[in-house]
Amino acid sequence: MRTSWWLASLDGPFFMRFDILTIFPDLLKSPLEEGIIRRAVKAGEIAVHLHNIRDFSTDKHATTDDRPYGGGEGMVMKPEPIVAALRHVGEAAAGGKVILLSPQGRKYTQEVAEELAGQDHLVMVCGRYEGVDDRIRLHYVDDEISIGDYVLTGGELAALILVDSITRLLPGVLGCADSAARDTFSRGLLKNPQYTRPRVFENHAVPPVLLTGDHESIAEWRFIASVRLTLARRPDLLAEMTFSNKKRKLLFQNGLLEATEDASRGHC
Ligand code: ADE
Repeated sequence: MRTSWWLASLDGPFFMRFDILTIFPDLLKSPLEEGIIRRAVKAGEIAVHLHNIRDFSTDKHATTDDRPYGGGEGMVMKPEPIVAALRHVGEAAAGGKVILLSPQGRKYTQEVAEELAGQDHLVMVCGRYEGVDDRIRLHYVDDEISIGDYVLTGGELAALILVDSITRLLPGVLGCADSAARDTFSRGLLKNPQYTRPRVFENHAVPPVLLTGDHESIAEWRFIASVRLTLARRPDLLAEMTFSNKKRKLLFQNGLLEATEDASRGHC
């Protein structure tokens, strides 16, 4: 019996359908049932379908992997059950972009998330073991994505990261319409630090400007705090940035103009 599992509301705008092919569907369930993702499902903004690749295996042991041709360590995921699962998804909702999650893929960034958020159906294939038979990548996949330069035990956590980061970009998913636009990375800088009550916590005070109610000074403080953080942690991000004259003046007044210009030149 197939154990496909889906999270979807019956009505709603359905901005995005995700289908995830995995041999460990249980690994994915609970993160999809919490917080903003859960709310987006309830509101009908996304639907998530999990498919157990093992259900599409045709041999009596429900095998999904085999030894590599040419010898070597480990096991390789067989092509037949993956393709059968892809065809099953294609019958339910044709036209999805098929993504293979693997450490060999193109690197996932906020820009890629924004690009994928423009699709209406993403089908993700989660590899395990030493990888997936390469004929899948060559003939059945539209895109191959890595979430970073490290190796996971499988693509499931990477698929969750895509679902999470794409969902929050969809229209109406975040409560405040422009909060995705104010994110770290959306403006090319790391996000400024945030504070909430109490005003003084164990002798550590909130920066006084944040208590003034002066919106312009607060916005300037946030901008400068973002630039300082970006210079300290991710100067490479500044290579892509150009600032308005007003911001250049602020950078100058805070002794940061030269440093930001050096950071840009250093990465040209
Ligand atoms: N599977 C294993 N490692 C991965 C990574 N870094 N990104 C995406 N999928 C993976």
